[in-house]
Amino acid sequence: MSANNQRYHRAQLEQAIKANNVLAETRNARWYPHFHIAAKAGWINDPNGLSFFNGHYQAYFQHHPYGSQWGPMHWGHVSSPNLVQWQHDPIALAPSEEDDRDGVFSGSAVTGPDNQLYAFYTGHRWRNGHNEDDGNLQVQCLAVSSDGFSFEKRGTVIECPQGIEHFRDPKVWQQDRRWWMVIGVSSTEHRGEVWLYVSDDLTDWAFERVLFQAPESSVFMLECPDMFPLGDKWVLLYCPMGLPKKGFEGRNGHNAGYIVGDWEPGKDFKPLTSFRPLDWGHQFYAPQTFEAPDGRRLMFGWMGAFNMELPPQPEDGWCGQLTVPRELSLGSDLHLYNTPIAEFSQLHTATQDVGTITLDTNQEHTIVEECQPCEIEFTIDLNRSNAERIGLWIGQAEGSDGVLIAYDDQTHRIVVDRGNAYHGDRGYRSAPCKAEERVELRVLIDKGSVEVFINNGHASITSFVFPTAGQRSAILRAESGTGVIDSVKVHQLGSIWES
Ligand code: FRU
Repeated sequence: MSANNQRYHRAQLEQAIKANNVLAETRNARWYPHFHIAAKAGWINDPNGLSFFNGHYQAYFQHHPYGSQWGPMHWGHVSSPNLVQWQHDPIALAPSEEDDRDGVFSGSAVTGPDNQLYAFYTGHRWRNGHNEDDGNLQVQCLAVSSDGFSFEKRGTVIECPQGIEHFRDPKVWQQDRRWWMVIGVSSTEHRGEVWLYVSDDLTDWAFERVLFQAPESSVFMLECPDMFPLGDKWVLLYCPMGLPKKGFEGRNGHNAGYIVGDWEPGKDFKPLTSFRPLDWGHQFYAPQTFEAPDGRRLMFGWMGAFNMELPPQPEDGWCGQLTVPRELSLGSDLHLYNTPIAEFSQLHTATQDVGTITLDTNQEHTIVEECQPCEIEFTIDLNRSNAERIGLWIGQAEGSDGVLIAYDDQTHRIVVDRGNAYHGDRGYRSAPCKAEERVELRVLIDKGSVEVFINNGHASITSFVFPTAGQRSAILRAESGTGVIDSVKVHQLGSIWES
């Protein structure tokens, strides 16, 4: 990168940071997250460059600093010493080169042999200079940093193959002393594929093979692929575009999921499962993982939507957040579990132990009058319950606005039902619930979202819920039958933001 280009990049960053600070001054905090990562102001989507570098956890993200809509993408940045307390850092990457003229798109980061952070991202251009009508020109670029804050762009390392329209989201890892990169591709036949590249020095990359093609012919692109080992298996995460709706699955405009298989360097990837959802909620997309120093596989997803206007967008000055950090593990049946990382409980500031609540038919029991951001845990005893739906209402005590999180005895699933939501999209999502005797739920309630973890992360449901102003209560409820709910605990949660 020449000194001139370096200066120009700095200027672009300074301009973006200034505009973002101005936007933050008038940010409406009514739904701004208390314990989820979001930008100070402006729009965010995918987590990028997740890593442990320079003694801190680094989380970058797709960011439009100038407004609460998607726009020319930058990499926003937050960092943390412990995955619990986070700070907002200056925007790390901005469009500044011809190759990334219209956006610094998603990507990943690894620590190189010289102890520098190597960030790989997609340099994005609209072919016609202003929109997708005439297609995209997408290349994979490298930027290097010695501190995680300021990056030197090193330009394109992988050009866009002839005839390819969608070619993005490089995810890099090291295996057997070589560097591997998966990229999401729409093939010349418009099939969603993951391509594998290999390098010995993080700079010269060679195409290795087409690693995977989605079996559904309607799937034309796989966004944000990620590939990592768990035990002796490999997990391939991806976000299929064009996935048909099927029953409870594929319900969102954008869906994320995984398959598990066998792989070793130099060989084909051999799938052992079909594609499965990674989370069943309305808002879970573009998950990215990284390996923590202690070997755990950790993941953040993006909570947002491209296909509808979200309540904070018109006037709140911000939009989009990341999920809480989650740990992934693989069951012996190759099922992928995801749970909040163990450190999450460090946010608990006070705990109310409510014990066991027995509900008569159609009875309600208020456990919190004024619900602040909190975690509520409880276990539904199915042997001693015969309600059609039994669970937790978060919302107005007398009134209609709220969300119901409940076990549904007719479908044997957990539902997050926003049918009564006053702000934002309605509808429900539901996740399978394996337990026959007891269902354990952990519900994380933030100012504009809920995350529900079922039976120790066997399934999760992640959705926005934007309450109306005023009282918001937490109420246990049994519908058309009785219920017994054990081990009810309410943990107040501190903020993740360092003051
Ligand atoms: C996924 C995605 C990526 C792309 C980025 C652009 O949400 O579309 O494929 O790199 O967002 O913001």
